[in-house]
Amino acid sequence: MVQPHPKNKKAILAQPTHVQLSRKALAHNLKCVRQNAPKANIVAMIKSNAYGHGMGMMAQELAALGVSSFGVATLAEGIHLRRQRPEEEIILFGGASWLGQAEALVRHRLTPVITHLSELEVLAPLVTTGTFGIHLGIDTGMSRLGIYWESQPEPVLMPFIEFFQNHPQITLEALATHFAKADEKSAQSLCEAQMAQYTQAVSVFNAHNLLPKRFSIANSSGVLRGYGKYAKGFAEHQFRVQLDVRPGLMLYGIESRDEVKSSPLMPLAHWRAPIVARKRVKQGRAVSYGGTHICQKDTEIAVIGAGYGDGVPRLLSDRGKVIINSKPAVILGRVCMDLFMVDVTDWVDAGEGAEVALGESVTLLGPGHADSMATEWARLAQTIPYEIMTGITTRVPRVWSDDHQPLAAADIPLPALE
Ligand SMILES: Cc1ncc(COP(=O)(O)O)c(C=O)c1O
Repeated sequence: MVQPHPKNKKAILAQPTHVQLSRKALAHNLKCVRQNAPKANIVAMIKSNAYGHGMGMMAQELAALGVSSFGVATLAEGIHLRRQRPEEEIILFGGASWLGQAEALVRHRLTPVITHLSELEVLAPLVTTGTFGIHLGIDTGMSRLGIYWESQPEPVLMPFIEFFQNHPQITLEALATHFAKADEKSAQSLCEAQMAQYTQAVSVFNAHNLLPKRFSIANSSGVLRGYGKYAKGFAEHQFRVQLDVRPGLMLYGIESRDEVKSSPLMPLAHWRAPIVARKRVKQGRAVSYGGTHICQKDTEIAVIGAGYGDGVPRLLSDRGKVIINSKPAVILGRVCMDLFMVDVTDWVDAGEGAEVALGESVTLLGPGHADSMATEWARLAQTIPYEIMTGITTRVPRVWSDDHQPLAAADIPLPALE
């Protein structure tokens, strides 16, 4: 319902486009992680602005729910978060892009995932008091970051072992690896092969009395596959070594591409945008840039106040849908930078015009309807939900509330623009 203006009853009070984040959904999703990884330490992956949900507030809400480890990718993300969260552990997963600024990494007590000896050599002289913990990344199948060996782990790992023996100020907190295909149902054997290679590294470190304090393996789909528990091969260490899990997508309530499903997650984000104009156009009329949609009948059009400049993928042109009071309305023509058009003829013809009146909000992404899921957008836009969520731009304010009940327009903050 459009809200009445407090001072001018004839005026319409539209909500600007905004993403509303539900504490209830976050608590539910975190509970799902905990149920699947009962004894593990949760490293909440909040890189890339918490997958578009807003990093600072996400960390604050998670900290209130008992999470004390956070995963980011870049030094800048780490420093930004450290200023807001002086106490919690902040792990940098993005590789050695901090190498030129290693002094800042140490000063801000950020924990890097190390993948080259040269990174350790840069760090060692900077740690002049106390100890500095690092994670060591093992490449077991991604061919991305991490220490890699073809057949014999020992010769490859030995220089690292010698480094730790000679530099007691640098401590091995965790051995980390990352699944390449845990979200694909048929990839169990690859996951197992990755685990087997990982346990080789564990054995080598164990043999040299350098067992890390933690094993860090499972992303969301790894957790859903059962790797949030001590797996075969390293269960014997469970009383000495803490298991870390690193969920991202799961916390945001989104199922991945070929997901391994668990108890249903709740989408954290509800993205709404206002109807900023309405008009009835004649049959034969073209809609939006390039006139890719020609109206086959007289058509009632609602213009929505969001576009690809806000993160609505242009690939949703002529095919995506928005949700108006539980029913889908089809996008007509191309998505523009700040606006796009939808067909609301059915509402008007059914005498439900009030639902599509100027100033009303429609749902772009949110709970309760398959067409408004990030996975459905991703399918239509030939991408993955990660890219959909991280693509929501800074001009869309993110606002937290207990659930997804619509907010008063006055409660939607202006976004901080550069
Ligand atoms: C190293 C690492 N761990 C964990 C995650 C979290 O993955 P997901 O969002 O699938 O849980 C990511 C995400 O890209 C990652 O790069």
